[in-house]
Amino acid sequence: MELPSIGKLDRSAGQLGRQLSRLLREAIRRGELKPGELLPSTRHLASSLGVSRGTVLEAFEQLIAEGYLEAQAGAGTRVATALSDAPQRRTPARHVDAPAAPVRLSTRAAAFGEVARQFAPLPPVPFAVSVPVGPTAPDDAWRRLGNRTRALRAAAPSGYDDPQGVPALRSAIADYVRRSRSVHCTPEQVIVTSGTQQGLYLSCQVLLDADDLAWVEDPAYRGITGILESTGHRRGMVRVPVDEAGMDVEAGRAMAERARVAFVTPSHQYPLGMPLTMARRNALLAWARANGSWIVEDDYDSELRYVGHPFPSLQGLAPDRVVYLGTFSKILFPSLRLGYAIVPQALVPAFCGARVLIDRHSPSADQHVLAAFIDEGHLDRHIRRVRLVYADRRQHLIAAIARWIPSELAWLQPGDQGMHLVLWLGEGWDDQWIASLAMEAGVAVRPVSPMYSSGNARPGLVLGLGGYTDEQIDAAVKKLAKVLGSAARTRGVFPAG
Ligand SMILES: Cc1ncc(COP(=O)(O)O)c(C=O)c1O
Repeated sequence: MELPSIGKLDRSAGQLGRQLSRLLREAIRRGELKPGELLPSTRHLASSLGVSRGTVLEAFEQLIAEGYLEAQAGAGTRVATALSDAPQRRTPARHVDAPAAPVRLSTRAAAFGEVARQFAPLPPVPFAVSVPVGPTAPDDAWRRLGNRTRALRAAAPSGYDDPQGVPALRSAIADYVRRSRSVHCTPEQVIVTSGTQQGLYLSCQVLLDADDLAWVEDPAYRGITGILESTGHRRGMVRVPVDEAGMDVEAGRAMAERARVAFVTPSHQYPLGMPLTMARRNALLAWARANGSWIVEDDYDSELRYVGHPFPSLQGLAPDRVVYLGTFSKILFPSLRLGYAIVPQALVPAFCGARVLIDRHSPSADQHVLAAFIDEGHLDRHIRRVRLVYADRRQHLIAAIARWIPSELAWLQPGDQGMHLVLWLGEGWDDQWIASLAMEAGVAVRPVSPMYSSGNARPGLVLGLGGYTDEQIDAAVKKLAKVLGSAARTRGVFPAG
């Protein structure tokens, strides 16, 4: 008797008796073995499968106990006849006979689905942002330190840890932001997060009540507008225009003086790239103080300023009003999923509680590795190194765009820092369509228009810097130029200006 599926025993996985009983059970359920059918003798089956007779006996005994098989003295072992009364399991139909009832999605589900579409990870090709390849990847020190730290007691398996983060990492972060960003804090104010995205989420959970208003830059990172839209704050989101000096604070005051929170990217407006001027910083702080409002400072890539020094943080000017969010995604690598929120002391318990309800805390072992990486000076060295690399990649990209993309098709937003550039397209262009055409051509870009409030969108593309080579950048810019050229011809969509 042939039992085709019995051939699938995995010897390397062990427990052959269990495997055999599972395979026989499945064969009976699928109807390959019919009720009343006689099975080969244990001796025969054992030799055809190349297992011991004991293994087959073990499987048979198990299935007899479960009622799948029955044994009669001298008459061998059969599939239990009683199984013929059992309802037949229908093989799932390949074609659905009737259309399934449409799934009714909640408004939030629809918003989350849209976020998933917009945040679908890009392949590691130009111009996916912060792809740590080649010279921008952390060097061997990261791997060595990881191995060493994980072997130590502190990073070995343990119980639940502090939702605020392991003390060694909090101290290292407090020291780092004090030195590099003029942030005023103690380690007790540092909350280790799984990246700025979580810091934004925690801030929304902690700082906003249901009917509160929140200022958000226009345009802004989809990671903040997406949170507000999907957590019941769509109507409370006040989009404050951004001009060459950053968020227009006077406009914000005119639109919603009593807003509870302002979400800003003061070091490097996302996505446009200008810093918030000193006058605007003072105006923002004056508004926050006058209203008892909070400022959430998203400082996602300030380490990468190529001319002069990074701007000091807003937090340093008003530690009692500002929640400062930082991340290791840009400067180290995004899959690390570690960042930090630095919050006024009074907010620490609330942030910790909110964190517990999301995922308790970040993996402790990774936190220890990062703490050692910072303490031993590797982070500072890495930043010095990648700053030079990105400055060089940036110059190369700017030159390649000037060379291959005609300025009447697209032009760059000026700026002097960060890991991305914005390439504007003329009025009337559909940047989402262009981004999908570029992806088909092997070039990864993000459209800018979804970052604006409706009615105010401008089309453009975000081009990220990674550790790409000159050749990769040149090839990608040429492909993008071709995409833009043929899109302009086929659709007859030409820039207005
Ligand atoms: C403006 C801004 N904020 C926050 C984030 C989220 O970063 P993280 O990877 O730390 O969650 C990003 C990532 O691109 C960003 O551009």
